[in-house]
Amino acid sequence: MSTDGIRMDRRVFLKLSGMTGLAWLTSGFYQVDGCGSGEDDYASLDPTDPANFTRALRLPGQDGLMGVLTPTGALEVTAATATVSLIEGYDTTLWAYQTTSGARSYINPSIYLRQGDSLAVNLVNGLNEDTILHWHGLDVDWRQDGNPSYQIQPGESYAYSFGIRNRGGTYWYHPHPHMMTAEQAYRGLSGLMIVEDDDDVALRSALNLTFGQTDIPLVLQDKRLDSQNQLAYTPDSMEEFDGYLGDISFVNMTVNPLLEVATRIYRLRILNGSNARILRLAFTKGDQAITFSVIGTDGGLLERAYQAREVFLSPAERVDVLLDLSSLQPGDEVFLRTLQFDAMDVMSMRMASERNTSGSKTSAATHLEQGEPYYLLKLAVTQQVTQPAAVPSSLSTVRRLDTTGATVRPITLSSLPNSMTFTINGQTYDMDAFPVQVTRGSVEVWEVSNQVGRNLSSMAHPLHIHGALFQVIDRQGSPAQTADQVVDSAGRFATDLGWKDTVLVWPGETVRLAMDFTNAYPGEQNLMLHCHILEHEDAGMMLNYKIV
Ligand code: C2O
Ligand code: CU
Ligand code: CU
Repeated sequence: MSTDGIRMDRRVFLKLSGMTGLAWLTSGFYQVDGCGSGEDDYASLDPTDPANFTRALRLPGQDGLMGVLTPTGALEVTAATATVSLIEGYDTTLWAYQTTSGARSYINPSIYLRQGDSLAVNLVNGLNEDTILHWHGLDVDWRQDGNPSYQIQPGESYAYSFGIRNRGGTYWYHPHPHMMTAEQAYRGLSGLMIVEDDDDVALRSALNLTFGQTDIPLVLQDKRLDSQNQLAYTPDSMEEFDGYLGDISFVNMTVNPLLEVATRIYRLRILNGSNARILRLAFTKGDQAITFSVIGTDGGLLERAYQAREVFLSPAERVDVLLDLSSLQPGDEVFLRTLQFDAMDVMSMRMASERNTSGSKTSAATHLEQGEPYYLLKLAVTQQVTQPAAVPSSLSTVRRLDTTGATVRPITLSSLPNSMTFTINGQTYDMDAFPVQVTRGSVEVWEVSNQVGRNLSSMAHPLHIHGALFQVIDRQGSPAQTADQVVDSAGRFATDLGWKDTVLVWPGETVRLAMDFTNAYPGEQNLMLHCHILEHEDAGMMLNYKIV
């Protein structure tokens, strides 16, 4: 291979190296007697086989993993190992946030709060390495935001205390230590934060929704399990570059789950909690896509429901949907799945390394590449009920940002020429540098473009910003595979129509964002923006910015 920058499509590369992700379809790989116990084992967990969807979906209950916790006072939350059962007959060790409240104990609690409430958490580091906790999407003072400059050592603690100023919505929390976020999040450290406001209450009563029953969070993740069903995190240099993908699908930490449903409307709050996997979500009955309503984004409800047949959801993004099953019959089955798409992953590289499957029970041939289709959740209709009411025509108000006369700031997502390093504005993370400064109270227009060029690598990047929410103004240069999702003349998708904290930007695309730097906290705010492919974040696809 020549040393002066060879560009190739990831799929071409995989084919050349004999590792096309689809090879197994024709190779008879799944013959039971073919390939040893590891693959037999995998066949029963393979998310491309709908027959494997048999485990009851974990719903957030009163305690335990994902248990719903409405704090009545300060919480002591310890980040430490915990043992859970993910595969029948095995104990799997997670790294998890653990706490108690009253007589109940929780692992990665779903913290449920009202807008205007306050939250006090004392984080205790029970890991063997530094950590810090970040409240993703929450509007807090930067000292409460889990900045890596505040990370704590094993045995130390960090006290958080803040009020909930956000709109109602589905937020989440996860670690943010310098260069160690990806592994800690992958090993299990993350949880939901549900904020409820008056508009949520109105929707809840209009549709007679109950959180955990008919208003259900779905945390979508892909991971690898080794032969002992322990989480394997062993990225090679290629995976540190591309992001670490799993071959086993988890929803609410349930492998290949099944949910029994009734013939009514469900509110589903979907979080892509993966390190690197982008999802193209659709609901299908047989081969038919079922239309659903997009009602919310990262920062809460939209003004009204928008019909959709599919949405892209990149790591850290949330989409809130209403799924109306009222015309179905008991016995019907619906799948939430991710559809095939082109990952548009182009590598400019000097040396190709082989796909790493170390630590995983699968072989290279069964690995699920970015953009490969698989099932996520089976919804089995078991109960006939009468849907109480229709979706309200108005859900909320979204205050539109006025960008007249706003500063326009180019934000370029790119890579260093001929290298395996992704950059923002040509730079990688320097904890002491603040290359972007914005004025408190201002609205800026950020022109985020994902550069494709000679000797540059390119991928789709989910750009995330701390300390500010934004609105998508328009999209230009979007790839053809997103065309069916466009809902307006600005090229936007339904998932672009509300408040956002993370936005996926495809290679060649420019997305203009109206950034809201209203920030009510005293003093300079030292915040950051980064790619939410966590391996990219750790590798330095991140910049500090300052609100002054
Ligand atoms: Cu969810 Cu800085 O990240
Ligand atoms: Cu964040
Ligand atoms: Cu990235």
